[in-house]
Amino acid sequence: KNVVILISGRGSNMQAIVEAKLPGVNIAAVIANRPNAAGLAWAAERGIAVAVVDHKAYGSREAFDAALADCIDGYSPDLVVLAGFMRILTPGFTSRYEGRMLNIHPSLLPAFPGLHTHERAIESGCKVAGCTVHFVTAELDHGPIVSQGVVPIEEGDTPDRLATRVLAVEHRLYPAAVGWFAEGRLTLDGLRVSLADPAP
Ligand code: GRF
Repeated sequence: KNVVILISGRGSNMQAIVEAKLPGVNIAAVIANRPNAAGLAWAAERGIAVAVVDHKAYGSREAFDAALADCIDGYSPDLVVLAGFMRILTPGFTSRYEGRMLNIHPSLLPAFPGLHTHERAIESGCKVAGCTVHFVTAELDHGPIVSQGVVPIEEGDTPDRLATRVLAVEHRLYPAAVGWFAEGRLTLDGLRVSLADPAP
């Protein structure tokens, strides 16, 4: 399966997916909306096709999303993976990739969509935090949930320390979900996620 990964920054989730060497997964390209996204160099060094669609070059979200979709579609993706991709996407874009676009979010959705999740979880007095892999729909961080990982919040925790522990779980959770999709086990029917048993 051709997988196109979108990043905005360091791309550690992208790296985890690449390094998992998932059977049946071809990382067709890594695309960033920022020319200086650190993950681009990492991918390019490994011979992965990289591209930049700089959001600053477009006058509207629609124009940016249209250019991004053109770039993505040039790699004939079966799956689009958002890995720390920090742009709000238009409904036209999300519907184009319905059932074949995943995101990872650093909270236990539906709690704490949006930014500053770890700070908000700690301030709310939560005893656990975590991360969620979900199919992308038009509403930010609200798509059907594929999998979640839970991390206890410790006494005196800081957002940074919690983020580090959650990130380690993200790096296991996301490659697993991409692998399920590539095996054809993970599908979306309307708003219902199905995960079939592995082939015997
Ligand atoms: C991750 O915590 C991801 O869940 C969030 O942004 C962070 C990106 O990290 N959306 P990286 O770029 O994958 O290292």
